[in-house]
Amino acid sequence: MAAKKFGLKCKIFMGAKDIKRQRPNVEAMRKNGATIVPVTTGSQTLVDAVSECMRYWVSNCNVSAMCVGSTVGPNIFIKICAWSTAQISRELIVQVKEEFGRIPKKMKLLNCVGGGSSAMGFWNEFMDTDAEFVGIEAGGPKNSKLHAAPLTNGSKIGILHGAAQYVIQDKEGQIGSTDSISAGLDYPGISPLHCFLKDTKRARYTSASDEEALKAYQLVSKLENISPSLEPSHAFAEAIKLAPKLKSSEIIIVNSCGDSLKDKDIIKQKLGSYIR
Ligand SMILES: Cc1ncc(COP(=O)(O)O)c(C=O)c1O
Repeated sequence: MAAKKFGLKCKIFMGAKDIKRQRPNVEAMRKNGATIVPVTTGSQTLVDAVSECMRYWVSNCNVSAMCVGSTVGPNIFIKICAWSTAQISRELIVQVKEEFGRIPKKMKLLNCVGGGSSAMGFWNEFMDTDAEFVGIEAGGPKNSKLHAAPLTNGSKIGILHGAAQYVIQDKEGQIGSTDSISAGLDYPGISPLHCFLKDTKRARYTSASDEEALKAYQLVSKLENISPSLEPSHAFAEAIKLAPKLKSSEIIIVNSCGDSLKDKDIIKQKLGSYIR
């Protein structure tokens, strides 16, 4: 959409697996004039798409500029993305003050975490408040060893896409495989910004399984006037776990950062029907 606004040509690198499982998004990008470049290397998901995009850019940097849609990659790309997504919390802080007259002391801000851009955007303006930050990673299928949750599962520091970070890896430091029902969370690394928030204990990180996310999607779509995509459904799963333990004076805000429409094929396949 930014390329369209400025009359620029736009190539979007996307894993071949994600092209299949995020079809409505691909159609929307094509309608806006973008060329989708399928990436067929490795796991054919986000991690390979970012690698391929970087390869293209370094080979064509005289005629192209790179944008990354998450807070990952070398330093400047993280800053550009985090600054942009911070608009979410600039708006949220106004809404919270309107709703509660102030920023409540015991307030939990829940956000799913893939590369970490929407969580950074959701939390940014609340950094110097008492708000509690909870990041929810993709725990993957319930009975599988695979996941996409480096912060929750004690992954070690490694280098991925030009930045040091906690990353899923083997003993030799080779990047490990991931699995998640959610294409947007299915990434072995995590923004260095979140690594810092974890190390300094400013944020707490946990995970939700594929099954928990699907259940949360069903419940929220049935009871609320929204239908979250599978990424924020991970955050809603944590809200569902937390809420019964809290006093009624405590406040949870979940960033419903995506709409389920993009996941309709996979939801239909897993649950037999799709509600929105
Ligand atoms: C709707 C939605 N939410 C969340 C994410 C996760 O990314 P990030 O952690 O950068 O917010 C994605 C990634 O594609 C997404 O599409």
